[in-house]
Amino acid sequence: MRKPIIAGNWKMFKTRDEALNFMYQVNEKMPSNKLVDSVVCAQFTVLRDLVKRQGDELKIGAQNMHFADEGAYTGEVSGLMIKSIGVAYVIIGHSERRAMFNETDSDINKKLHKAFEVELNPILCVGESLEERENNLTEKKIKDQLVADLANLTKDQVRDLVIAYEPIWAIGTGKTATSQIADETCGFIRKTIEELYDKETSEAIRIQYGGSVKTSNIDELMSMPNIDGALIGGASLKADDFITLVNAAIK
Ligand code: 13P
Repeated sequence: MRKPIIAGNWKMFKTRDEALNFMYQVNEKMPSNKLVDSVVCAQFTVLRDLVKRQGDELKIGAQNMHFADEGAYTGEVSGLMIKSIGVAYVIIGHSERRAMFNETDSDINKKLHKAFEVELNPILCVGESLEERENNLTEKKIKDQLVADLANLTKDQVRDLVIAYEPIWAIGTGKTATSQIADETCGFIRKTIEELYDKETSEAIRIQYGGSVKTSNIDELMSMPNIDGALIGGASLKADDFITLVNAAIK
């Protein structure tokens, strides 16, 4: 059985005071990490503060990292640096980074290799645009991303990877993919992992759905066989909602 994983992606939201306030509200209310992995992926400026106050059940993640350990890369932060402050997870290849910051599959592949090397748990995002879905290119797009992003990763690494299926047309738009579409595409990702690796790996890997997940649709999404959790933007910003979302994963 795969343990569910619920991760909030705060994107570029919350000052330090707001982040600490969230932490005070969720502390003591998080369910046991024996039942669900709960993660908050925050912006760099608050990561250390959150790690210090994360308690036993919540883990902290970053939203991006550079693939080099150090170097002349003004404005970047390395995986090694993130790891050194106690961060456990890192989102890699979010569609906003691919679209707005020109991140390529080759960059993403290097970041995944580095994340495993420094022992961060990567959450790899894949997903199609509305145009690609309407032109029946969803499976091609996702397979191309997986083949390029996972190049030369071992099956032991891939087993520990979390993949977030995030259709770009459902992000921040209020349009959730129906649970059938979400499950079907997560199932396609699992099948592709089986083709690229083997059945054991495809059955072990955890696949999240992301895109307008909220307290009103999480139950249905989590009831689907191929969906092991959610990567949540807007609805993860409110402490009460985040607790509800995490609890929905263990019902
Ligand atoms: P929303 O939940 O705000 O649609 O964002 C989804 C997302 O991009 C999570 O990474």
